[in-house]
Amino acid sequence: MRFLISAGPTREKIDPIRFISNHSSGKMGYALAAAAKAAGAEVVLVSGPTQLTPPENVTFVKVESAAEMAKAVHQYAPESDIIIMAAAVADYRPVKTFTGKMKKTPGNLMLELERTEDILLNLGKHKRPDQKLVGFAAETSNVVENAIEKLKKKNLDWIVANDVSRHDRGFGSDHNAVTMISANGDVCEVALSDKKTVARRIIRKILQD
Ligand code: CTP
Repeated sequence: MRFLISAGPTREKIDPIRFISNHSSGKMGYALAAAAKAAGAEVVLVSGPTQLTPPENVTFVKVESAAEMAKAVHQYAPESDIIIMAAAVADYRPVKTFTGKMKKTPGNLMLELERTEDILLNLGKHKRPDQKLVGFAAETSNVVENAIEKLKKKNLDWIVANDVSRHDRGFGSDHNAVTMISANGDVCEVALSDKKTVARRIIRKILQD
């Protein structure tokens, strides 16, 4: 079984010293990579910038921007059986990246942003029948409803929904609680636990399916 797992945030450069990013720590994605490895799979971990050490014996691909993450994911996707997009990919990047440090000028500043590629949406469009595609849905309200919409729109087999408005779980925390929903309508609640335990349960459920 070959897993491709993405993790962490992306950074979208404004100039050489500034960027747009988010609070993803990468902990959930790294725990998933470790759990898949422990289950006997071959694992490729594509990761945005994090403070974490990658699990041993996984192929580790370090990226920075959404465009770099897209390139790496599309490179490994054709040979992967199960793809889990746990990364918090930036949805927008600055239209222009300044080559030198941007100097301040009087008054307000307007920063024009453009959409990045929706990597998971494109993976869903080209999914092989024998491939399983798993997405994460980071939500602050209507968690399950929004997650089901993403599951359908992106042609996924599973969506892992988490409430990122809670400080005791999700983004940056060592703990998480998730609801997994499958394209077949299966619903699986994973109660609040440390991310390693949550990751083991997610991997087990996907492999059972
Ligand atoms: N994702 C992706 N490429 C993007 C944005 C998101 O592959 N440019 C993936 C994430 O890795 C995650 C899933 O899509 O598995 C859902 O991400 P999320 O940010 O919750 O949703 P979005 O599709 O970006 O929708 P919105 O931000 O409007 O809620």
